[in-house]
Amino acid sequence: MNLRALAAKVIFQVLEKGLSLSVALPDQQRHLDNGKDKALLAELCYGVMRVLPQLDKQVSDCMSKPLKGKQRIVHQLLLVGCYQLYCTRIPSHAAISETAEACRQLKFEGLVKVVNAILRNIQRQQKPLSSANETLQYNTPAWLIKRLQSAYPDKWQEIIEQSHQRPPMWLRNNQKIQSRDDYLTRLHDHDITASTGSSDDAILLESPIDVMKLPDFSAGSVSVQDGAAQWAASLLTPKEGELILDACAAPGGKTCHILEIESNIKLIAVDNDAKRLERVQQNLDRLSLEATLIHGDAANIDAWWQGDKFDRILLDAPCSATGVIRRHPDIKWLRKNSDIEELARLQSTMIDHCWHWLKPGGTLLYATCSILPQENSEQIRAFLARTPDARLDTLIQQKNQESIGWQITPGQENMDGFYYARLIKD
Ligand SMILES: C[S@@+](CC[C@H](N)C(=O)[O-])C[C@H]1O[C@@H](n2cnc3c(N)ncnc32)[C@H](O)[C@@H]1O
Repeated sequence: MNLRALAAKVIFQVLEKGLSLSVALPDQQRHLDNGKDKALLAELCYGVMRVLPQLDKQVSDCMSKPLKGKQRIVHQLLLVGCYQLYCTRIPSHAAISETAEACRQLKFEGLVKVVNAILRNIQRQQKPLSSANETLQYNTPAWLIKRLQSAYPDKWQEIIEQSHQRPPMWLRNNQKIQSRDDYLTRLHDHDITASTGSSDDAILLESPIDVMKLPDFSAGSVSVQDGAAQWAASLLTPKEGELILDACAAPGGKTCHILEIESNIKLIAVDNDAKRLERVQQNLDRLSLEATLIHGDAANIDAWWQGDKFDRILLDAPCSATGVIRRHPDIKWLRKNSDIEELARLQSTMIDHCWHWLKPGGTLLYATCSILPQENSEQIRAFLARTPDARLDTLIQQKNQESIGWQITPGQENMDGFYYARLIKD
């Protein structure tokens, strides 16, 4: 099946079935042998997600009546066609003929002429300046724009702009194997340009690269992890001999980093998604690290843990992921406004429950990849108000004296949007 048809299938899965791109895309990439084709398929799918409202309007304006039911996939195919015409260097004639051929392959012979005509029509038009409403102007759902405007009155446009950039590739140096400077020298020897990030192990590549081209990737010398996510293990500060809980561990990026910093600990890594937990094991294996993996609910620790209370807990809570839209543009269309209150309730239950399982004197690091205060500073403010034996640690407050915890916004020091609060139990 041609690449445009595969792209339409992926986009159909995301927009009509609610699957994430990271699940739907690899499923279709399997049908392609060539790395370049896989990359182009990804570019088309991610690209459509980034500028969906503008494409959608353009395609809809060219149709006399909307495509419904099973024919919906042809609408998604038209989005792919429109994206190629407006946002790629693919020659128009190739974009149009390949997209029309995809329509045939998707078994909508009767619509091939329509697809052809609509794309030719779009090709003749200038890319419209879409300022009719904010959703079209910013390619972002209205509810999210509203929340960002209220949380960041002076910065919301910059945040949206940053959320549409292509994300950089960050590496985490494995300090058990070599120093970050040593690995930077090795990268330099391989003509790979890189610089250091603000946390201890972070390396920022000038351009993304296939991991297999990185020196000793398979041997575990480095892992791929955003610079913001790498702050988690450093802020948790694991110490020799401690019992540590990684409460929402999958796929295990932070689990592995904690163990690279201090392997003489007993680390319990928990996740309620068994499939995702398998990925934690794969990551541990690649890096020759060990943790106890438990398939369990972080909001019901009593059900699977009868041991001591923990010295440290990392609660990397499920969240809206609004800080990582540049990596997962489908989040804009998969999340709903009402999800935020629901997530905030879940996070609040989890933090209370984890707190109960923290030793006096222990540290709980609360983390999200959200940029919404309801999940972050307001969440922690409410927790501190209802928890007399909890206090906010100064380590993070020095980074941000105005607010509760440390809110990183997308693009800040080239990092993803992230939030950290370090809590100490009296
Ligand atoms: C932000 S991700 C964690 C990322 C991970 N810490 C890392 O660095 O690779 C949140 C995780 O929480 C898990 N999760 C959601 N609800 C949970 C629950 N009630 N108990 C345990 N894990 C949960 C999800 O399956 C997901 O893997």
